[in-house]
Amino acid sequence: MNIIIKRSEREVSRAAADHTAAPIREKPDLVLGLATGATPLGTYRELIRMHGKGLDFSRIVTFNLDEYIGYGMDLSLPYSKDQSYARFMHEELFRHINIHRSNIHIPNGLADDPKEECRRYERRIRDAGGIDLQLLGIGRTGHWAFNEPGTPLDSRTHIQILSKKTLDDNFRLFFHRSGLGREMMPTRSITMGVGTILEARSLLMIATGKRKASITAAALEGEITSSLTASAVQLFKGPATVLLDRGAAFALQKR
Ligand code: PGA
Repeated sequence: MNIIIKRSEREVSRAAADHTAAPIREKPDLVLGLATGATPLGTYRELIRMHGKGLDFSRIVTFNLDEYIGYGMDLSLPYSKDQSYARFMHEELFRHINIHRSNIHIPNGLADDPKEECRRYERRIRDAGGIDLQLLGIGRTGHWAFNEPGTPLDSRTHIQILSKKTLDDNFRLFFHRSGLGREMMPTRSITMGVGTILEARSLLMIATGKRKASITAAALEGEITSSLTASAVQLFKGPATVLLDRGAAFALQKR
């Protein structure tokens, strides 16, 4: 695991975008795992800027980590406003780059049978040949994707009940913009499992801000435990890069 500490969030975003762009240039049909949340926004802005300078996304294939159950969008239909992660990705990245809609994969939170959707998602990752590079954040509960405390480290794509802390964070960051109340927030999601994530060929984990400092230190330096699913990064066999700003790196002991 290669831990890199940058001076600012801006520098983290730039480095994360560089780290993502390099394999895209090398392998234009890269299979890229993407994340939602506040953390990757700067990275996506940088990738959009790079696209303006010629970075080609026309052959890349993407898999997002998670989606709320009850939300989602059919990417082949005109874009509509909702609180799905599909909309988030469309607004923050996809509509600004030359990715093909048919190459975008996000768990369908509107599926009639969410359990079957989980199995289907695993199959689609496998059929694409696996994920080359997976982008990840870390939640304040220590979650990777929506793998809340207690999720087994060998879990596959599954239905996950969201913790109060995660719902509070996500309401503050995104959901309030819908004009809907906190009580309208979806409490369940479909998420790639920790085991699914660990099968990616490489990882890029990002955390910024002091509010992530203690959980980041616990994930990177503490016990490997399903109580803090991002600690699974320590189990990862392939190349894993962790990009932190000074705030998120604040509580690291071994620096
Ligand atoms: P955040 O979420 O980027 O909105 O803090 C991170 C995560 O939940 O992984």
